[in-house]
Formats: sequence, structure tokens, C-alpha cells
Amino acid sequence: VETREHHEPADHEPADHGPADQPPGLRVRIGNLEDLQKAGCLTGKVGSRPVCVFWDEGAAYAVEDRCPHMGFPLHRGTVQSGLLTCHWHHARFDLASGGTLDPFADDVTAYPVDLTGGDVCVVVDPPRDEVARLRLRLEEGLEQGISLVVAKAVIGLLGAGVEPAEIVATGVHFGTRYRGQGWGTGLTVLVAMSNIVPFLDPSDTALALVHGLVFVSNDTRGRPARFALEPLSSGPDLGRLCAWYRQFIDTRSSDAAERALATALSSGHGPAEMTDMMLSAVTDHVFIDEGHVLDFTNKAFECLGALGWGSASEVLTTLVTQTANARRHEEESAWRHPVNLTVLLRDSTADLETRLSSAHKGDFTDADIDALAWDLLSESPVQVVGALDRSLDAGASPEQLARAVAYAAALRIVRFHTQNDHGDWNEVHHAFTASNAMHQSILRSPSPLLLRGVYQCALRVYLDRFLNVPAARLPTTYEGPAELSDLQACWDTEGKVDEAGGIVYRLITEGGDADRVIAALGRQLLTEDAGFHWYQIFEAAVRQFRAWPEQSEQGALILAGVARFLAAHTPTRRELSHVVHIATRLRRGEPLYEERVDEEPAYEEAT
Ligand code: FES
Repeated sequence: VETREHHEPADHEPADHGPADQPPGLRVRIGNLEDLQKAGCLTGKVGSRPVCVFWDEGAAYAVEDRCPHMGFPLHRGTVQSGLLTCHWHHARFDLASGGTLDPFADDVTAYPVDLTGGDVCVVVDPPRDEVARLRLRLEEGLEQGISLVVAKAVIGLLGAGVEPAEIVATGVHFGTRYRGQGWGTGLTVLVAMSNIVPFLDPSDTALALVHGLVFVSNDTRGRPARFALEPLSSGPDLGRLCAWYRQFIDTRSSDAAERALATALSSGHGPAEMTDMMLSAVTDHVFIDEGHVLDFTNKAFECLGALGWGSASEVLTTLVTQTANARRHEEESAWRHPVNLTVLLRDSTADLETRLSSAHKGDFTDADIDALAWDLLSESPVQVVGALDRSLDAGASPEQLARAVAYAAALRIVRFHTQNDHGDWNEVHHAFTASNAMHQSILRSPSPLLLRGVYQCALRVYLDRFLNVPAARLPTTYEGPAELSDLQACWDTEGKVDEAGGIVYRLITEGGDADRVIAALGRQLLTEDAGFHWYQIFEAAVRQFRAWPEQSEQGALILAGVARFLAAHTPTRRELSHVVHIATRLRRGEPLYEERVDEEPAYEEAT
């Protein structure tokens, strides 16, 4: 430790910087040198922050007297050979720098000590660039997969005024760089959470981002990094590149497809053209990878809204590997027997371009979309396709057809009977989230090629018909209590699926505040240790709810469906929300150790 010339100690008094070799900063007197040498440790405060000064091997060292992990008072730790060990979870710190040897704990703030004139003064440096430090900690937390470090960084960054979109961008750049396989569940969850932040209680913003970022971290750890391919220098026109791309995806040539896509992106084409190019290749095959490719692709486009189209090449090329290698459902028996749905699809979508251009526009209403959705629940696949065809001829726009299919998929969830296997919730979930992705993509590019995907989703909804036999009673028949607070019992007790749907349905249709209902559902999602599908279905439900008029029957049923899904999967251990709660309390400086432990930890007893 440096021993400096005497400076008159006074709490928070600006320092006379003195000789040139003294660092600038405030001197805060903690005690005198003789007491420090005798006791080995002195404690005091710098403003509201507790500090402790240790005497070790003939020198003095000061650190914040609060373990950055969970707040244990570090003056009760052990110092040996320049290492300070916290006695709660045994994190070790370099006494001189505060750097931790155990990354789960984070670094502790260290202060220089001035011993001039026999006084022990902690020197408080001018403030560091806290945002830069927190950004670094966020990256480190993502790399090492430590949710508490991620949570503390996110809470700190939001507290410093950093926009959620910037934090999401950090996660997206990280996720695209460090996952050789490309876009995965982590980035999908992160973008879904980013999309729902505006609909949550503001106090849940950090929690939503942490859920997404922890998913990204889990999705990248232990995996090779990604190296993107360069675009071709010749730059063929878009038509040719699209044809190449579809051909390369069809033959599962992912490197060739990535190069064609990178070339199109480098030529400056925008979201509509690129949606068309990528999703026409996706919809060349039937409902690939249970619809996940549809949802992933849509999410990738959505995240570019926050990152800017300048990141399109970095983001969109990460989708190629999964698209090329996806499972194709036309190869599966459910799509071929007893009715060959792939032939039905091929025949019914062959002339979509002509039908779309000749249909008289504008005559289709929300009531017609509702009626179409119920028709789509038919027992006959021919009738399902026929209902879409007739609606198209009657003037339904691609957006309206896609919305009807998404609503029909939501009705499958609302009518899903709890007698089904629990795992079958995933079936109705896949149809709904893929249909929502199709709806969002059609909004970006209402092309005939994408419209094929709407027909595919409609037949996927048809395939789930057995999950509505028998059908659950609609929430319209629910007569129990319907306060927002009544939902809590549905999350804390297993089996209250129908109650959850009924309460939400009545809250919406009886004039309740839909924003509060959505925020409450979102809070519950984030309170639980949610699985991948939970985030997808909640985000899709919010999107579809907002596609209908306020307080509509359709919107109420859509939210009732997602409430049923949540109630069917809760409660969980609720660990991640607990981590974020701890991080929040640490940041506020609230006592954690003191209120949790009545006696000394085992380590101290043993020593
Ligand atoms: S290691 Fe210090 S509180 Fe956990």
C-alpha cells in the first residue's frame, strides 16, 4: 500500500491534492494506524457505503464492507496472503484490487489507503465510467452463465438510464457471435421479452430482460463461435438470388444458401424483399421444425427494429443452418394419412397469385374473420382449405386470413381439455405461435408465396382437432369470482386451469383494464422458471390480443387461452425471479445476510 504525506482528514471534504504523486480524490478518515495494526481490521463509512480496512503483511487495504455476491459484511471474512475470503459462500478477492477469483461473486470495490501522519484514510477516487463497467460485467455474466452477475448489470444499466433496447442489442450481438449453429431459442426468448417490455409494469423490465439474457447465455455456453460467410462480389439480381436461395435450402446446402442470402443483404434490399426471400424458402416445405423456423425468422426480423437494418446481415444469416436442416412435415405420416394434406396444400396454393390479384378487396370484416376462424376448426381438411379459398375470393386480405388462422389456433388452446396428456399443450402451442409468426410476417410482406404458410398453419390447426375432443368448456360459462387478485391462487395451486381462463375472460369482457391484466400475466410468466414455449405463447397472445378491437370477445378468449396455459404449468421453483430480487436489493444496499442468518456460517464455526 502506498503511504502518502499527511492530509488533513475530514469526511467528504474535497482533498487538497498535495504533492503531484498523490492521486486525486476525497480522504475519509477511518481511524488511526496503531488501532488498525492492533485489530487487523477497522470499519467505517464512505458516505452511505460501509468500508473496511485490513492490515496485512505490513500494508493497509480498503474494500467496500459488503460482499458483492450477497452482501455479507466482509470485515468478518478472513485475510491471508493478500486474499480476502468471504465467509458466506467463500468467494475470494484480491485485497489490493478487489478483483474476485470466483466470478460468481463479482469484483468488490477497492479503495487506496492514505496513512499519512498515522491516520487511516480511505481515498475515494473520482467516479468511474459506471456504464462502461456494467456493460463489461454484462458480457462477462453472459460468457460465464452467471445469472446474478447478469441481473446486477441489467439493473445497474437501467438505473443509469440505458434504454432496454440497448441492453437487448448487447444480448443479440452476443448471441449471434457465439453460437455457431446460429439463431436459437435464447435469441427468440430475448426478442420476445423485448417485445413485451412496453406491456409490463415498468418495475418488471429488468426481470424480463434478465430472463431473455440468461436464455441467450445458456444457449451459447459450451458451443463454438460463429463465422459468417462473405457475400459474392458479383451481386446477381434479387430474382436470381431468391431462386438460388430456395434451391439451396431445398437441397440442404446451408453454406451456399448463406452466401446467396448474404449477397442479397449486401445489395441493400429491405425488410419486405428479404422476408419474401427467406420465408418463401421456409414455406416451400410444410410447417418445418414444428413451426419454430417461422417463429425464429419472424423474431429475427423483429429484433432488427431495435438494432437497425444495418445489422440485418449479422442477424438474418444466422437462420440459414436451421432452415436448411429443418424437419419437413410433408415427410411425416400425420400429413399424409388418412388424407394426403401435402397434395391438398399443393393444389390449393398453386394459383394464389391469380386469386389474390383478382379478389375484390375491402369487403371482409372482423366478424367475417371470427366466423372464418370457427370454420377453420372443421373436422374436414377440405372444408378448412375451402373456407380459406372462399374468404380470399370474398376479399379477405392476406393479413385477415393470417389473423383468422392465428385466432383459430388460439381457440384450440382455449378449448384444450385438461384430460389430454400434459405434453400436448406443446402441440396447440406450436400451431398458435407459428400462426402468429405467419401473421406478423404477412404484415411485413403480404405476398402469395407467404400466403402458402397461412394455409399450412390452418392445416396444422386442423391436425390438433383431437385435442379439443372433448372440448373444455369455454370461459364464457365461468361464474366464479373475477378480481385480478383471484388469479394468484391459479398460479400457486396446480390444476386451476379453467378458473384462470374464466377470470381473465370476465376481467376483459366486463370492462376491466386489459393493460393491467396483461401486466399481471406477464409478471407471473417472469416470476416462474418459465420454459421456452411459455415466452413464445405469451408474446404471441399479446400480439394477437392487440390485433383485435379493445375488449373484443376474440381478444378476451386469446388472453384466456394463455392464462390457461400458464395455470397448467405453474407453480415452479421461481428461482430466477428470486435472483433478480436479490440483485435489486443488493443495489439498494438492503441487508440480505443480516436478516437471513441468525448465527455465524458453518465456515466460521469450523475454524
Ligand atoms: S460469497 Fe460473499 S455473500 Fe456469498
